Amino acid sequence: MKLILVMVWSVLFFSGLAGAAGGGYTLSKANIDGTNAESLQRGAKIFADRCLSCHAATFMRYNRLVDIGLSQSQIKQYFIVDDSVKVGDTMKSAIDAATAKQMFGVMPPDLSVVSRSRGADWLYTYFVSFYKDEATTTGWNNLIFPNVAMPNVFSQEQGVLRAIYATDDKSSLSLERETQGSLSARAFDDSMLDLTNFLVFMGEPAAEKRKQIGSLVIIFLIIFAFMAWAVKREFWKDVH
Ligand code: HEC
Repeated sequence: MKLILVMVWSVLFFSGLAGAAGGGYTLSKANIDGTNAESLQRGAKIFADRCLSCHAATFMRYNRLVDIGLSQSQIKQYFIVDDSVKVGDTMKSAIDAATAKQMFGVMPPDLSVVSRSRGADWLYTYFVSFYKDEATTTGWNNLIFPNVAMPNVFSQEQGVLRAIYATDDKSSLSLERETQGSLSARAFDDSMLDLTNFLVFMGEPAAEKRKQIGSLVIIFLIIFAFMAWAVKREFWKDVH
């Protein structure tokens, strides 16, 4: 009995710790749809245009974008910016490690499978939670990644957010809009959901296929179980 109590207590304790690891902020739910090809295509375009300057996605090849409904010629037209990049190449970063280290103090991590470690909700919340902070090197900070070395790449579209401290205690802050961005709040949110959707796709490109095959296997097993039961009944009829 004591052992069970200790086990229950440790589960509660450690799940509490896991919650606190997010900095105490609740993550916004990322309502993404992995079957929405248009959303994935918009996300891929944002990723290629705005992230590959610093980050790489070395597990992702440009020509695998056919999986989100793009044709080879569309991939060439929208994603291959110069002749040094081939359509079968992996997505490399434009910045080299030494320069990145000098500029940011860290190498921007490879984003191929970041959705597996961080999860969709974390990524979406991260993208919409950058705020102006003169105290940091880049001039930006982030609610769920305090003192992040990444600058806010979407301040044009989102507008500039400022932190408001609810009390003297710096741990409870909320964000307030200082300037308007070129996109409405709704449109900006949607584009960040598209981006999150694409990052989740990259983390497991075969996820949708896996779910489809999974459903088919379950249906097959149900039908097969019924047939096996019918055959068994037929055989045992003579035994009785
Ligand atoms: C100017 C360079 C730069 C650009 C452009 C940039 N990032 Fe970053 N990013 C960084 C750096 C540097 C870090 C590391 C931050 C740290 O460790 O403090 C980072 C960290 C991240 C992380 C956190 C990774 C982790 O798990 O710790 C994510 C996610 C991310 N970037 C996504 C993106 C996406 C998506 C884009 C494109 C919209 C983008 N970044 C554009 C420099 C950049």
